[in-house]
Amino acid sequence: VSLLLCLLFVSGWISVSVSVSQSQTVEVQSGEDVTLLCSNISRSPTQTDWFRVVNRTKASCISSMYAPENEASFCDGFQNRFEMSSNISTVFLKIKKVDVSDSGLYFCGFYKGKHTVITDAIHLNVKEIPGGMTNLMSVVLGGLTVLLTIVVIVLAVKISKLQKGTNLGSGDLNYAALSFQTKPKRNRRPASERELEPNVVYAATR
Ligand SMILES: *[C@@H]1O[C@H](CO)[C@@H](O)[C@H](O)[C@H]1NC(C)=O
Ligand SMILES: *[C@@H]1O[C@H](CO)[C@@H](O)[C@H](O)[C@H]1NC(C)=O
Ligand SMILES: *[C@@H]1O[C@H](CO)[C@@H](O)[C@H](O)[C@H]1NC(C)=O
Repeated sequence: VSLLLCLLFVSGWISVSVSVSQSQTVEVQSGEDVTLLCSNISRSPTQTDWFRVVNRTKASCISSMYAPENEASFCDGFQNRFEMSSNISTVFLKIKKVDVSDSGLYFCGFYKGKHTVITDAIHLNVKEIPGGMTNLMSVVLGGLTVLLTIVVIVLAVKISKLQKGTNLGSGDLNYAALSFQTKPKRNRRPASERELEPNVVYAATR
């Protein structure tokens, strides 16, 4: 079963299927789909039911089926996210988008002779997705994004200011380009050196 679970997770499925005869405790995260099953209950069609117990004492009927070909009938409070099906020998209960409140003991009942037989219970344990973690992550990432945006804006403003400080008229710029071809990184030089450029340009071209 653990190999199957691993394969399901590795292949990216968020659906978990567990057999009652192999695993008595099923752990899933809230929001996933889970299928519980009672296998090998009967060789002939018979009425089957799903029950659950929560909070130690609160027992409820979930659903009943009179025969595998019939539609399942759901008890109060279980009409929305629950699906029951059967292939005579195995009874399935699919719970869609499990919630923490779905945690509890699930078991099947079926008629055999004159009695209702109750199967071993499956303990479904639904864990809350660690929301605090993801919230922290998004806060950190959001903060980083804002910080980087501010840095980019500040840099852009500084660069445009530097360019305004050194830019001259278009004619002068041509001269400057001619004069300084061998020094392409002039924007990064200290301000004092840069302020001298116009003088150098004029001196060189006049
Ligand atoms: C299924 O149930 C029958 C009768 O209860 C039993 O003889 C058989 O061994 C069971 N098969 C499995 C695979 O559990
Ligand atoms: C189980 O108990 C908890 C707290 O005691 C309560 O909030 C919850 O509603 C109960 N669940 C059911 C299904 O009664
Ligand atoms: C019912 O389904 C179970 C689980 O998928 C399977 O092992 C079993 O062979 C099926 N039985 C029949 C009669 O189709």
